[in-house]
Amino acid sequence: MYNDNPTLEGISKEINEQQQGEVYFKAGNSTGSKHFYIESYGCQMNFSDSEIVGSILGEAGFQPTRNMEIADLILINTCSIREKAEDTVRRRLRIFDQVKRQRPGTLVGVLGCMAERLKSKFLEEEQLVDLVVGPDAYRDLPKLVGSAEEGQKGVNVFLSREETYADISPLRLDSNGVAAFISIMRGCDNMCSFCVVPFTRGRERSRNTFSIIAEATDLFERGYREVTLLGQNVDSYKWENPETQKVVNFAQLLEMVANVHPDLRIRFSTSHPKDITDEVLYTMARYENICKYIHLPVQSGNSRILELMNRTYSREWYMERVQRIYEIMPDCAISSDIIAGFCSETEAEHQETLSMMAYANYSMSYMFFYSERPGTVAARKYPDDIPLAVKKKRLQEIIDLQGQISHEVNQGDLGKTFKVLIEGSSKRSDADWKGRNSQNKMVVFPKKGNHQAGDYVYVKIHEATSATLLGEMISAH
Ligand code: SAH
Ligand code: SF4
Ligand code: F3S
Repeated sequence: MYNDNPTLEGISKEINEQQQGEVYFKAGNSTGSKHFYIESYGCQMNFSDSEIVGSILGEAGFQPTRNMEIADLILINTCSIREKAEDTVRRRLRIFDQVKRQRPGTLVGVLGCMAERLKSKFLEEEQLVDLVVGPDAYRDLPKLVGSAEEGQKGVNVFLSREETYADISPLRLDSNGVAAFISIMRGCDNMCSFCVVPFTRGRERSRNTFSIIAEATDLFERGYREVTLLGQNVDSYKWENPETQKVVNFAQLLEMVANVHPDLRIRFSTSHPKDITDEVLYTMARYENICKYIHLPVQSGNSRILELMNRTYSREWYMERVQRIYEIMPDCAISSDIIAGFCSETEAEHQETLSMMAYANYSMSYMFFYSERPGTVAARKYPDDIPLAVKKKRLQEIIDLQGQISHEVNQGDLGKTFKVLIEGSSKRSDADWKGRNSQNKMVVFPKKGNHQAGDYVYVKIHEATSATLLGEMISAH
């Protein structure tokens, strides 16, 4: 979900497909001869935003390219979540610098969370940057690019209380034509003490329900079979219909998207443990096409640390939510985000994170050590006092335990048959398909019969590693 690497694999794949004569990008009415190149880092929201940017630039006459050397405009959509994420961006900027030297006139723009965090400081620090544009200012891109072409560097980091880009039909960039993201809300009001997102993304706001349903319907009609509803805290989705004053909550939204078509799978991310309701769980249970998978970041298994983190739930609260999930949906998979070595964390408190992982039986986790972010409550109030070596040791224990749990959970799938949505050929072999089951596990199996990406098939599992299930197709849907 979090990506610190450029999307190079996607890039080469798409170039190959273009060479085979397929029209890979549907760039709206973009007929222009200018090209933009975009790289995305960070969470799925950023990848989704890059598709909105693609659409806005398409309208302004830019075509996407996977080759930065022919681009008139090079964009990098950035992440500030940890120091490492920002370091990666700075390294990429050095590479763009070389391209710019070879092709003077190429514009370089920084988008996203790091643009928002550093604002015009970026222009001082990085001479090669021509544009700095925050997550709520993408509609302004064509104008800013126009000024930059005339030598006027541009910054727009205005954070909006309303912008949801509801009317913009995203240009699907790294798409496999099967699964797509739909952004349903923006911003975050939670103020977890370690987190930079509320500063880089602004206040929480929910997108018009009808525009979400329209986007899901359009995707289904274009052959997509899976949508992931995205927000930092999807369970607090709340949209008031201005005509009827009726409020749509997340459970109701889920149901409406599930009703678009039984063959359209629904996923969502991220759920906040304090906000995930039984109503959401029952809605999931009622619809076969709402995937039985919940990303429910715990961050820490200890109540004192959770309080310092301002997560607003305790260990017991989290355990009750996990229990409820398994009660209502025994086949549901749960995954997590975990931070090792938060300020003042003791060894005993770290052990509680490990025991929580075992209790929740996570199918997988994204695991990090704490990285202090400037301006956050934690940076202002709590000393970053756990030595790096201790943070790394605790993180390694967390990673090792997750490896074991994932392995065991996956061994439990041996002999089971899953409905799998084919996403494409497996990375390792063209003779195999890869796809996911409802629980979001990657399943790899030999091709046979007349199937294609976007088909549902049934696969019986006969082998499992901690990351992948291997099986055999048993019959078509
Ligand atoms: N909205 C999501 C998380 C978004 S950020 C949620 O509330 O769960 C993704 C993950 O990055 C977080 O869940 C957290 O585990 C991690 N993270 C955020 N800030 C961090 C920091 N300062 N240091 C280390 N990890 C961090
Ligand atoms: Fe950050 Fe917390 Fe908001 Fe998630 S819920 S984005 S961790 S402030
Ligand atoms: Fe990173 Fe911004 Fe997402 S900080 S994790 S790209 S919201």
